[in-house]
Amino acid sequence: MAQKAEFIKIPPAPSGLPQTTPTEPERRLPSSDISISEATVEDLPRIVEGFYASFPPQFWERKEPLALRPPTEAIRHERFIRRLLPTFSNPNVHWIIAKHVPTNAIMGVAGWTAPGAPIHNFFRRSAVDFFGWRSQYACSDAEYDALWSVLNKEAWEDQFTKDDETRKQVLGDEPHWYLAPLFTFPEWQGRGVGKLLLSWAIEQADKTEPVTPLYLESTPTARAVYMHCGFVPQGDWNFVRRGPAVVRGLEAEEGRGEGKAASVSVDAVAVEKEAAVAE
Ligand SMILES: CC(C)(COP(=O)(O)OP(=O)(O)OC[C@H]1O[C@@H](n2cnc3c(N)ncnc32)[C@H](O)[C@@H]1OP(=O)(O)O)[C@@H](O)C(=O)NCCC(=O)NCCS
Repeated sequence: MAQKAEFIKIPPAPSGLPQTTPTEPERRLPSSDISISEATVEDLPRIVEGFYASFPPQFWERKEPLALRPPTEAIRHERFIRRLLPTFSNPNVHWIIAKHVPTNAIMGVAGWTAPGAPIHNFFRRSAVDFFGWRSQYACSDAEYDALWSVLNKEAWEDQFTKDDETRKQVLGDEPHWYLAPLFTFPEWQGRGVGKLLLSWAIEQADKTEPVTPLYLESTPTARAVYMHCGFVPQGDWNFVRRGPAVVRGLEAEEGRGEGKAASVSVDAVAVEKEAAVAE
């Protein structure tokens, strides 16, 4: 039976939501029960369903405030589907899905953008122009505006614009894999699905010479998953992975001396580690 991962402790999430914990060996799905493949447009409704089900209500209340929401959930889902649609005709965007082989249910989703391609976070409104949405799907200006009207501009457009700028500062023009989003439907979490969705790109990245970096922005609760997979924190929520590495959490510092743990961030631990790896 697979070993249980060594626990990585991360700072508590400001939302108070629990962080992820190592996958229990007895809960892990057998690899024959999981198939990893590229999604098609037909999978988009389930992908959107997963977005709304997997990220917590606090997240959605900030991104899509209740006051801005359309009258029905069906319209809300439909608008999200249409905002994501153009990414499916871009050859550099890979929507990777994990399916439960016995039932054919989609259990989890990863959106990977391939290295070398111009990257534009597809949650930004300008992504619609970037991906040529207007030339592919005719619609009136009013319909077009309606698609974006549910979103809190500051939490959505402004934040993702800043994230794109931060990524540029961290990696410059270096080709890299970019991950947004990653989620496992709640009923399938803690069973090894997320790890396989990450491995889809990690395995390709590690095969190149030199290895290709991977970049992502993490929710506060999922940081340990990424650190366990070798991603090194760069700031509040962004991570870079450059080949296999061990990234330790707060507990590594707690053993070093009384009173020190409170003032030590995971970032500092990770940077130290990165320096040690580079030496
Ligand atoms: C984050 C998320 C995608 C993880 O998906 P999952 O299917 O539950 O993940 P897995 O069961 O494959 O576990 C991931 C890996 O991290 C490890 N892990 C998780 N928490 C850990 C911790 N605290 N310390 C050490 N390892 C940890 C697991 O053991 C597993 O590694 P292993 O297979 O080598 O044992 C899932 O919790 C989720 O969808 N959360 C809500 C949405 C979200 O926050 N997404 C992240 C956006 S950036």
